[in-house]
Amino acid sequence: MTTKLETRLASEGGTKAVTKLGPFPSKLGREELWELIDLWEFSPGNKERIKEILDHDANVEGPHLFRYYNPKPSRVAMAEEAMRGLIGTKYCLAVNSCTSALIASYRALGIGAGDEVIVPAYTFFASAAGVVAADGIPVIAEVDDSLTLDPEAAERALTRRTKAIVVVHMRGAAGQMDALVDLSKRKGLPLVEDVAQAGGGSFRGKRLGSLGAVGCFSFDHYKVMSSGEGGFVTTDDEWLYTRAQSWHDTAACWRPDRFARERREGELFAGENYRMSELQGAVAIAQIRKADAMLAGYRRARDLILAGIDPFPGLSFRRLTDPAGDTAICLIMFLPNPEITKRAIEELHAEGVPAGGVYDSKVRDWHIYTYWDHIMEKKSVAADGLPWSALPQAELPKYSRDMCPRTLDLLGRSVHIEINCNYQEEDCRAITEGINKVLHRLRG
Ligand SMILES: Cc1ncc(COP(=O)(O)O)c(C=O)c1O
Repeated sequence: MTTKLETRLASEGGTKAVTKLGPFPSKLGREELWELIDLWEFSPGNKERIKEILDHDANVEGPHLFRYYNPKPSRVAMAEEAMRGLIGTKYCLAVNSCTSALIASYRALGIGAGDEVIVPAYTFFASAAGVVAADGIPVIAEVDDSLTLDPEAAERALTRRTKAIVVVHMRGAAGQMDALVDLSKRKGLPLVEDVAQAGGGSFRGKRLGSLGAVGCFSFDHYKVMSSGEGGFVTTDDEWLYTRAQSWHDTAACWRPDRFARERREGELFAGENYRMSELQGAVAIAQIRKADAMLAGYRRARDLILAGIDPFPGLSFRRLTDPAGDTAICLIMFLPNPEITKRAIEELHAEGVPAGGVYDSKVRDWHIYTYWDHIMEKKSVAADGLPWSALPQAELPKYSRDMCPRTLDLLGRSVHIEINCNYQEEDCRAITEGINKVLHRLRG
């Protein structure tokens, strides 16, 4: 059969060639949803029931998992709003990790070649590696018995090239925010809060991430709130937010006014892609809503365990700058020397107490500066040798494995007891009993 070819164009009154396309099935359908459901590990019976429901709903409308140009309300935008509400800052940007949050913040602050940033000797490698990724030079300073940046060590480490100070609220507890905010103001240097390990914690009634110039959060699996991977940048500073937004989105390529010209010098530059997916956003919303309930669980468990521990000569606890604001994800005790500490950890393990060491000179660990080989040995990703080539050799920081002896001493004597927000009274009692048994035996 031959059909007569319509030669008149539609614009000349001819018949339109295409009158109907679709609707087509969504790219993301039941198969993808099923993979997600499978992750939740329902019982086989319930899984079967869910599968039946899915198989019978042929018209499932798939989600739009990209934040921008989304016909539905964006879950990432909703998560930002929830996080902004929780932390209490004017602006919040969702990103795909805390590493990204840190790099976007360093970039937003204008850190670049030849600029120094003070970082503590005890933190996950990302706080320092992010400085290098932003072409800056990390200057490593001691922590004190709070296991966070020692403000005096930070002040001693300042040079004319210092562009920012990073406080890391390690293992759930606030750094010394009074002294560090004061230092940052006196010297006119922005304070970056790495809140990766202390999401939801606070200092004298203000949430961590709202006290410095900018806060960086992790939502990876091991954090207080998690979306598997993910992160947030919080700030009261619109300009910092705008620049972090530009960096996180290939230079603001996808924001709603994506073709807008630069409104102010420094707004647009070639960036990277740190965008959060709608999947992470959806999970993050639920986690942010649960944050305070989880924190209450952690704190209750911490108080119960702490109240039961018997005195022991030479035993002290990590100094908390604000016990009420501590997230209480752990309890850290200092023992008199590394040998007793090691023995205590072994015995606690044997008792079933979830205890671990923080530093053992023979065990590699990304949280201790001595193992940051890439920085210690001034490694570079490219032949140009940046960031180290930005300064004359003699002006670069002198890194050595023994440069922060106080940090190593404290960490080598630390016993870390993990806390779970779901512990019941009997769990806490059993843990306290295990700790007391071991301490009594060590006392001899
Ligand atoms: C203190 C600290 N900063 C930054 C990060 C990096 O977080 P993310 O895994 O989200 O990149 C971590 C993760 O462990 C961390 O503990």
